Amino acid sequence: AEAARTVAARSSTCVPRAARRQAVIEARKVVVLGAAGGIGQPLSLLLKMNRMVTDLALYDIANVAGVAADLSHCNTNTQVKAYTGPDELAAALTGADLVVIPAGVPRKPGMTRDDLFNINAGIVKGLCEAIAKHCPNAIINIISNPVNSTVPICAEVLKKAGVYNPRKVMGVTTLDVVRANTFVAEAKGLDTRDVDVPVIGGHAGETILPLLSQATPKVLPWFTAEEAAKMTERIQNAGTEVVEAKAGAGSATLSMAYAAARMAESVLLGMAGEQGVVECTYTESSMVPGFQYFASKVRLGPGGVEEFLPLGPLSAFEQEGLEKMKGLLSKNIEAGVESDPSSM
Ligand code: NAD
Ligand code: LMR
Repeated sequence: AEAARTVAARSSTCVPRAARRQAVIEARKVVVLGAAGGIGQPLSLLLKMNRMVTDLALYDIANVAGVAADLSHCNTNTQVKAYTGPDELAAALTGADLVVIPAGVPRKPGMTRDDLFNINAGIVKGLCEAIAKHCPNAIINIISNPVNSTVPICAEVLKKAGVYNPRKVMGVTTLDVVRANTFVAEAKGLDTRDVDVPVIGGHAGETILPLLSQATPKVLPWFTAEEAAKMTERIQNAGTEVVEAKAGAGSATLSMAYAAARMAESVLLGMAGEQGVVECTYTESSMVPGFQYFASKVRLGPGGVEEFLPLGPLSAFEQEGLEKMKGLLSKNIEAGVESDPSSM
């Protein structure tokens, strides 16, 4: 971003953990692609409230000028600008430090995330081509579903352009962690802000694997095997729970915006040199044998992913879950890697 300006980082209110931090950081430009959508609007509001975000570029194919005008009246220091349609995409992206992508269609009841592949693959591909051209060094947070496939699609586009850095392309799986934290806190009578449940694998059905055995803090009695299986299923189906409750009006938007704002903040804190910033995210790595892409805990830093953290000991149930997801996750990854970008 345009260099020298520095601000005291006061985080958005959604991440109490980071609200205590007062890091001194450089000016940061964050771009939201799909900013007029169900996720894009509340996410943009949360980013406008985050003092680490000095410039906020809102891009969509329609209706984004009003969103930016509306947000620009909030008396925070973040400068907001609207960009509409492909002619303005280059300007939106130029100088970006972080690009967040919630562009694409959401599910309706009865659909799987894979049913979104045909439309969203083309959208993500087009946007990533522009990123490759106009901000090849930016960190990318991909929200558009199916995440298990859209991240490989993005990677393939960047590889083709010769600008791929696997440490900077992240599928956003934070909502799975947010949900797991909430549900576990409810079940165990804990303060949800204290709970941390790593969620690994991917972001669809049985590829979502919460590591309840590694959750902190622990209270006794902890989950029995049967309770752990039930809790796992609730977390895996939480997206569908929202899709059904919205009954045709889309999928999770507000909780997703909250989760994406947390992830963006962690990325920005890492960029600012904050130590010990850890999130689960879906990336390409050789961390887990047999999986080209995998969501797991990473430590974030100035270059994106600084370190892939080990999975740690898994319970027998979690080990079984890891085996069980292999088929589906590999299929999802292959669909993304093999999809012919030129035909989209
Ligand atoms: P939405 O339909 O409300 O908004 C999508 C926005 O994308 C719209 O404003 C639309 O105009 C825009 N868009 C479409 N094509 C575009 C393009 N080429 N360039 C820029 N913008 C474009 O949908 P939503 O509820 O915000 O969901 C968006 C996506 O996020 C869906 O694919 C959904 O499945 C996914 N999602 C992912 C997670 C996750 O955990 N990763 C959670 C919730 C939703
Ligand atoms: C979610 O987990 O809420 C999202 O992936 C949206 C969906 O389709 O479930």
